[in-house]
Amino acid sequence: MKAVIYERQGAAGEVLQVVDLPRPEPGPGEVRVRVSFSGINPTDWKSRSGATPRPLDRFQIPHHDGSGVIDAVGPGVDESRLGERVWVWMAAAGSQWGTAAEWTVVSEQQAVKLPDAASLELGASLGVPALTAHRCLFADGDLDGRAVLVAGGAGAVGHFAIELARHRGARVVTTVSGEKKAELARAAGANLVVNYREPGVLERIRAYTERVDRVVEVNLAANLSLDLGLAGPGTVVAVYAADTADPELPVRACMTANVVLRFVLLYGVPVADLLRGVRDVSAALDAGALSELPAHRFPLEECAAAQDAVQGGATGKVLLDVR
Ligand SMILES: NC(=O)c1ccc[n+]([C@@H]2O[C@H](COP(=O)([O-])OP(=O)(O)OC[C@H]3O[C@@H](n4cnc5c(N)ncnc54)[C@H](OP(=O)(O)O)[C@@H]3O)[C@@H](O)[C@H]2O)c1
Repeated sequence: MKAVIYERQGAAGEVLQVVDLPRPEPGPGEVRVRVSFSGINPTDWKSRSGATPRPLDRFQIPHHDGSGVIDAVGPGVDESRLGERVWVWMAAAGSQWGTAAEWTVVSEQQAVKLPDAASLELGASLGVPALTAHRCLFADGDLDGRAVLVAGGAGAVGHFAIELARHRGARVVTTVSGEKKAELARAAGANLVVNYREPGVLERIRAYTERVDRVVEVNLAANLSLDLGLAGPGTVVAVYAADTADPELPVRACMTANVVLRFVLLYGVPVADLLRGVRDVSAALDAGALSELPAHRFPLEECAAAQDAVQGGATGKVLLDVR
C-alpha cells in the first residue's frame, strides 16, 4: 500500500516520504480500515517535527484522525462490521499505523460507525478536536442551561466545543479574531460572537451573561483576565493548548473568583473517559448536531504541504484525500 512515513523528526519536506508498505493485517480485537480521508491536527506536525516528540519505533505513519470503510476484521471482532463506514480516532497513539496511508489498523473501539448522513470528510475531522472539546466541556458535569465561553470558536477544537455545548443545552459565547471566523462560529451555533481584538470584550459578554460555568481555553496567558472576569464559584476553565509562554498565575484573583483550573491533554485522558466522549460525539452526530469546517484537501503525496498548512494556522480543516 501507499503510505506516508517518517523515520526521524525534522522539517516536513525533509523527513516525510511516500513509500510502499505491506498492507497491515488486523490482530485480535482490531479492524483494518481502507482510508478515505486522513485528518490533520497540530499534534501531528508537533510529533513529526520534534516540537513535542512522541516515541518513534523505526518508522511512523502520521495522523490520528481519519475516515473510511472497514475491509478486514481480526479474531474476536464481529464480521458484521465488514463494509461499515467509520470515523477513526487516535490511530497513531502508541501505534505505527497512522491514517496517512491507504490502510490503517486500529482497535475496534477506535473505528466508530459513521451515520449515513455524515460525510467521510466530517468523519475525518472529529477525533482529536471533538474528543478534546468533549473533555473540556464535560469532565466536570453536564451543561444543560449553563453558559460556556469558547475561546477561538472557529478553530477545530473550538468549532466542536460550540456544537457539542449547544447540542447539550448550553448557551455559548465565543471569541474570534475577525469576521470570516465570526461567520464560522455563528454557523456552528454560537449565541454570541465577540471579536477579541476589539475593545470592550468583557463588557460585551457581560451584557449577555454575568458569568460563565465553563471556559474552553486555547490561550490561558492571553485570556486569563477575561476568564476570571466571567468566573464565579464552580466555573471551570479547561485549558488544552500551550502555544505561547506560560502565564504568571494571579493567585489572589483566582482565589477571589473561586475558579477551578483544569488542564487537558488527550494522550493522558483515562480510556473510560475517552470512550464516554466517543459515545457522546456519536450521539451528537446521529442527531445531526455536528458539521464540517471548510476543508482544504491535499493528495497523499502532498502530505508535507498539508502538514505545513496546519502549522501555518489554516482556517478550516486540512485533509488528505486518500480515495
Ligand atoms: N491538549 C490536547 O489534547 C489538545 C488537543 C487538540 C488540540 N490541542 C492544541 O490546541 C491548539 C489548537 O488546536 P486546533 O486544532 O483547534 O487549532 P486551530 O484549528 O488552528 O484553532 C486554533 C484557534 O485558536 C484561535 N486563537 C488563537 N489565539 C487565541 C486567543 N488569544 N483567543 C482566542 N482565540 C485564539 C485561532 O484563531 P486566531 O489566531 O485567528 O484568533 C484559531 O481559530 C493547538 O496548539 C493544538 O496543539 C491540544
